[in-house]
Amino acid sequence: MRSWIHHSRGKVLRQAETTRAGLGLFEDMFTRQGFEGRDAHLYRRHEPTAWKRADKDAQAYDFNGQVVEPTDLTRADGVPLRLFHNDDVSVWVSRRSADMPFSVRNADGDELYFVHDGTGTFYTEFGPIPYEPGDYVLLPKGTTYRIRPAGPVSYFLVFESPEELGFADIGTHGRRAPFDPDLLFVPSPQLDELGDGRNEDGEYPVRIKSRGAYAWLYYEFDPIDVEGWKGDLFPFKLNIRDYRPIMSDRIHLMPSAYAVFATPNFMVGNLLPRPYESGEDTEKIPAYHRNVDYDEFTFIHNGTVMGLEVAKASISLVPRGRHHGFPEAYQEVLRKTIKPGDRLDYEIIFMDAVNPLTTSQELWDTQRQGEHFFEGGREAGGDDQ
Ligand SMILES: [Fe+2]
Repeated sequence: MRSWIHHSRGKVLRQAETTRAGLGLFEDMFTRQGFEGRDAHLYRRHEPTAWKRADKDAQAYDFNGQVVEPTDLTRADGVPLRLFHNDDVSVWVSRRSADMPFSVRNADGDELYFVHDGTGTFYTEFGPIPYEPGDYVLLPKGTTYRIRPAGPVSYFLVFESPEELGFADIGTHGRRAPFDPDLLFVPSPQLDELGDGRNEDGEYPVRIKSRGAYAWLYYEFDPIDVEGWKGDLFPFKLNIRDYRPIMSDRIHLMPSAYAVFATPNFMVGNLLPRPYESGEDTEKIPAYHRNVDYDEFTFIHNGTVMGLEVAKASISLVPRGRHHGFPEAYQEVLRKTIKPGDRLDYEIIFMDAVNPLTTSQELWDTQRQGEHFFEGGREAGGDDQ
């Protein structure tokens, strides 16, 4: 049950997230369990991101996801590249350019693919799943499948979870919001439509991923030979266009309102186009905050970040305890320019991890100096998270 114990001392806003500008102080959220646990709002004299200088590890990180090069970009037998990991979740990029002349099976975890770019088909034991940009494709741990891109390169963001990944419980909005479960695409076997999973010797290999290593099986027949299936364990897909964001006109909702998938130790969600809040006294941008119980990962799929141009496939990581937020100067610009009916156009995939994430060297090699962050008074860590 939510705690209603609440104390208030000194100069505060009685209703947080409203008329912040008129207070003459800076609103700073201090929160546990993301934004769902106990919290305090601190009203400060200075912007908490206006530090004079900072060590490298005291800041948020900005990476260029357009230049990461997993080996599957150039080789049919290549593999995705791991960007981040902890014991509960790992985040990978696959940029598959060629058909898989084999099948794969991940024994380490469920795989949630998010299709950033490209079209094609996942041929699975349960049937083919055609994909397009904006699709989430969830493949349960152990599913045998192969991918055939229809175009030159397909860019996938992949979350791997040893624990079963389910839908996030975001509260009491009815069964058909934020999406109708009828919109899940669930495959049916089509054995005359399999893609070719043979190698040059005519064998059907299966590459099994187990404890981070790859091992091969070889069949004389296609292991995707299922004529029928039944049960409650199966792959499916959902497109972000079918996700209808919950929103409020009078209070900015926190990103946890937009979680889609979750385990007890991380959540994956999406920030998608919607109107700005238009309540007369409503702040459109969340207050400064430091998320002390989660590392925050974001991936720019499309659109702008509240009007700021950010390159597609930009990747950010805000480690726990680091302040971030849009600077007051930009908040002021938005207050003056946003008119009732104006819309946010962002398409951002986010992941909040309970345990600290380790960043791969290959991703460090793409680090930029905070091109879409605002920190220390310069244009460098705003996110809407
Ligand atoms: Fe955040």
